[in-house]
Amino acid sequence: MAEYKYECAKVRIRDGIGWLTMNRPDKRNAMSPQLHYDMDDALARLEVDEDVRVVVVGGEGGNFSAGQDLQKFFRDLERNPGERKKAAAAANRWRWDRLLNYDKPTIAMIQGFCVGGAFMQLLGCDFAIAAEDATFSLSEVNWGILPGALVSKVVADAVLPRHALYYACLGEPFDGKEATRIGMINSAVPADKLEDTVTDLAERLMKKSPAVLRATKHAIRHVRTMDVPQAYDYLAAKGQAIKAGDKEDSYNTGLRQFLDEKSYKPTYEPFKLGTLLTDQRTAKK
Ligand code: COA
Repeated sequence: MAEYKYECAKVRIRDGIGWLTMNRPDKRNAMSPQLHYDMDDALARLEVDEDVRVVVVGGEGGNFSAGQDLQKFFRDLERNPGERKKAAAAANRWRWDRLLNYDKPTIAMIQGFCVGGAFMQLLGCDFAIAAEDATFSLSEVNWGILPGALVSKVVADAVLPRHALYYACLGEPFDGKEATRIGMINSAVPADKLEDTVTDLAERLMKKSPAVLRATKHAIRHVRTMDVPQAYDYLAAKGQAIKAGDKEDSYNTGLRQFLDEKSYKPTYEPFKLGTLLTDQRTAKK
């Protein structure tokens, strides 16, 4: 199993799940340049780690993240434009570019504070589950800046405009239940059930064909910004890509299990991974 050692990030791999946490608990996981470099590297490596099927992004010490580090990311870098550029590029890359296009499903697990710049990785992940008593806040308005980098955009894209305007303009905190109501996250659960709920979601995702899941999540995330002709074209191309890359040959396996063996109903459950008849495979070669 690969070794991951970082100053400001932690990786634990268990039963196919890569648990990746921001690790500056004393500072409520406020994001320093080093934290961005570490998270960026860890995500890149987890994406190709064969022991990992799903990545969970969370925070150490009972908090998700208090947003950008106001000292180390902002004030200290004001007179160092070179380092500022480098840190901002890493920050945007892992929180959005990598997560948006990630080959494996990603889940944000939120407890404690999730503030400001942390909304990027919250919404960069494919799924998000929070503790009911988590505290979300777009605090920027309270200290004279905009929700910057891509925060304003990803929030405006994720929830209805009324909710985006309300919380961005007032900066008022809201809890996990409210985050669910406005569509910012998938669900909120009692804090003591959070890890089990996230594990259960990861296990259900791991029962799907990785290639089909990858194409499906990319399709859902990317069609939003396409017009109808582009979407037809893109989805047809993705369909072809699944056929080329799907080791489980899900389409033929599913048809066989439903039509011939009558062993499952796709409305309720996935086809059984790894049950493709070996002679079918051999016949194809
Ligand atoms: N940047 C830099 N340091 C931060 C920070 C941030 N965003 N958020 C917290 N910290 C530091 C505090 O300065 C404090 O450091 P210290 O122990 O050296 O004094 C430590 O983390 C603990 O924070 P504290 O405020 O004592 O904890 P709390 O639990 O009472 O409150 C928050 C937590 C997150 C509500 C509060 O720290 C806060 O409002 N932080 C700013 C969040 C923000 O606006 N982020 C937007 C950035 S885009």
